[in-house]
Amino acid sequence: MAQVTTPADRAREGFAGAFGYASLGVAWAPGRVNLIGEHTDYNDGFVLPMAIERGVSVAFAPRTDVRLRAHALAFGETRDLAIAELAPQRGGHWFGYVAGMVWALRRAGLSIGGLDVAIAGDVPIGAGLASSAAVEIAVARAACAATSIAWNARAMARLGQQAENEFVGVSCGIMDQLASAACEEGHALLVDCRSLETRLVPIPSKASLVVMDTGVRRSLVGSEYNDRRAACERAVQAVRAMTPDVHALRDVDAALLERARGAMDEVAYRRALHVVHEIRRPLEMADALNAGDLSEAGRLMDASHASLRDLYDVSSPALDAIVEIARAHPACFGARLTGAGFGGCAVALVASSGVEEFRQHVGGSTFSSRPAAGAHLLE
Ligand code: GLA
Repeated sequence: MAQVTTPADRAREGFAGAFGYASLGVAWAPGRVNLIGEHTDYNDGFVLPMAIERGVSVAFAPRTDVRLRAHALAFGETRDLAIAELAPQRGGHWFGYVAGMVWALRRAGLSIGGLDVAIAGDVPIGAGLASSAAVEIAVARAACAATSIAWNARAMARLGQQAENEFVGVSCGIMDQLASAACEEGHALLVDCRSLETRLVPIPSKASLVVMDTGVRRSLVGSEYNDRRAACERAVQAVRAMTPDVHALRDVDAALLERARGAMDEVAYRRALHVVHEIRRPLEMADALNAGDLSEAGRLMDASHASLRDLYDVSSPALDAIVEIARAHPACFGARLTGAGFGGCAVALVASSGVEEFRQHVGGSTFSSRPAAGAHLLE
């Protein structure tokens, strides 16, 4: 029987091949699928992601000098740089996520020294499953282990977000990095993105999450994502002119938004209308999951998809089609696009007893995952 090699094995082998000696340890961080609460994190709202069993492994060893060497198995490339020379590099090259994380750790005053890392993963890249956050958080886990710094999931998620915002140039929220750093097995993570308070939400065993990949790839480095964020900020400015204590769309309800409608452009209004309703859905979905009410959970997912499609304009014909096909199967409670949108993956809530039939019905590239644990060291 053929031996299955895990990303951790490949990272270890890649490390030895690239650097000529054995790594000291391996850190792992998961990708995530967001169940609901899309484009709400950067509006100080709620999100409900869960970590998936697919992730990124980083084989690592400290160096005695202050250089960063990184080898990416997916690209067959090695980069070597003096850490003092790390400077923001826009463009979404894989090394930007590695270098950006080390840059953010050092800027926060953590005494990260030289590091060799080799990176291998099984999260599809650019598919809306937070592969870049998995790289950042696995690198952070490795860097902390290599320099004996205690692991703090929240702090590391913040630094990962800073790396992506300021080094890579994507104005992403905190969801992906926090999910990758702080999720726990068997649970989704309800996050208040304003306070960073979290609550674990158990996924009932009769429910399964199936990820359905459209195969369409996109990069958040493109302007669409940052455009959505800018539209939300325009809406906040317009509301704040009337009601000064509004700091984010979190502080705006549907009635207030209507009152301010005339003071903003139509695009900003439609984006904000999505957000003010979507912000509540993670709380409602957490209640539905706690009560075992999968029909209600599915209904919320369907409503989220419609809003992302019609108001936020981040769906695509392929995403709409896959969601329709999913819903046509009797085992499916609801389905929606997941992550930023513009391509990538959709997620369906499916009766566990019907998962195999459901996946055959949908066809193409699908997988189901139990909720996984956040970043940790392997071995
Ligand atoms: C990307 C970003 C997240 C979040 C989602 C949309 O995954 O990295 O911060 O904004 O898009 O919900």
